[in-house]
Amino acid sequence: MTDTARDTTGTEPDQHHQPGYLSGFGNQHRSEARAGALPVGQNSPQRVPFGLYAEQLSGTSFTAPRAENRRNWMYRIRPSVRHATHFRELDGWPIRTAPHREGKAPIGQIRWNPVPMPETATTFLTGIRTIATNGDCHTQVGMAAHIYMATESMTDTFFYNSDGELLVVPQEGTLRFHTECGVLVVGPGEICVLPRGMKFRVELLDGPARGYICENYGAYLQLPERGPIGANGLANERDFLYPVAAYEDTDSTAEMYVKFDGRLFVAELDHSPLDVVAWHGNHAPYKYDLSRYNTINTVSFDHPDPSIFTVLTGESDRPGTANVDFVIFPDRWMVAEHTFRPPYYHMNVMSEFMGLIYGVYDAKEEGFAPGGMSLHNSYFPHGPDIDAYDKATTADLDPVKQEGTLAFMFETRHPLIPTAFASELPALQDDYPTVWDRLERHFQAE
Ligand SMILES: [Fe+2]
Repeated sequence: MTDTARDTTGTEPDQHHQPGYLSGFGNQHRSEARAGALPVGQNSPQRVPFGLYAEQLSGTSFTAPRAENRRNWMYRIRPSVRHATHFRELDGWPIRTAPHREGKAPIGQIRWNPVPMPETATTFLTGIRTIATNGDCHTQVGMAAHIYMATESMTDTFFYNSDGELLVVPQEGTLRFHTECGVLVVGPGEICVLPRGMKFRVELLDGPARGYICENYGAYLQLPERGPIGANGLANERDFLYPVAAYEDTDSTAEMYVKFDGRLFVAELDHSPLDVVAWHGNHAPYKYDLSRYNTINTVSFDHPDPSIFTVLTGESDRPGTANVDFVIFPDRWMVAEHTFRPPYYHMNVMSEFMGLIYGVYDAKEEGFAPGGMSLHNSYFPHGPDIDAYDKATTADLDPVKQEGTLAFMFETRHPLIPTAFASELPALQDDYPTVWDRLERHFQAE
């Protein structure tokens, strides 16, 4: 039996008619699926209401500064030690974790066509394939770029990741995440983030699903500073939605999968681990509709650096140099005067993994399809292809609405090393760098 209830504080309706969500990035949220389940005035009473167990899920060390400190108190039917013990290691799992040094990674600018849906049944969990990684999960530095392809729901399997938070970017198909904190429904054009240690399973709502995942081993994703932009703009705090408490009270066999230090384990269960009846705290999953992004751009000339489109940033130990930034290229007006309007040609110390959710990306006229990917590693030059260059240098510079497009980038300070899977994919384009071959000289010597 599943019992869901709506917290009456700060909720807003959802387009998929799910229970309301709690609004506000990083807030100390609270929610109870059964009235009276949340202890009042203390975290760990001698006897928790309704015979529940009190359990803290730490997202940061206990002594992390208050502004960064993350933890959840969860009031559950059984403590986690009843559903995450007696593990058995799994071999042959396709998820890769940094550092990996498999195969020979291709060098230079790399691009992939969309990877077709698998012919055998896969779930969100079994359908994850790693494209590239950097850093080292053991030292909590770096990230992995994965794709997922799912054809069926996870029904009696659950997962949590010890190695990093998961930023999920659906490209096709709507996903319903059942988490310990409640339910998040996320479709193309939206994202969600699952914190470290958060147990969940994923259902498909409208057929096969495909998308991208950034597994962030480093500091948690947060909202970027706004500087002179002021107190509003970019991704606004109130548009980040957290689930209301919803629990599963089932007694049937299930499996709990865990990724720990790059290795995968499974434990057998006789009940659902999503048995949290009430919770409060700030180490919770959240979703965000990318169409809520308040895009800031030039109203005079030149193309700003793409950091102007940062949705979330995960800091490294070097100020301003992200472990990973999540950046989008959404619908927007292009109004720059006497300007080459597409992204400029450049060589970047940072490494850029890009994906396309829908539409056409303005630097590539063709070859970069929705569901596809590109990787421009540190100091490999890139920029508009010949057709985009010709168009941009001859266009009338009237205001133009860039519409029906949504690309994104995981930009990271460490080079991304492709996996053997990614290097051997039939979807790997062997001719990608030829898109720049016809960029001829125009300069005439005097
Ligand atoms: Fe770039």
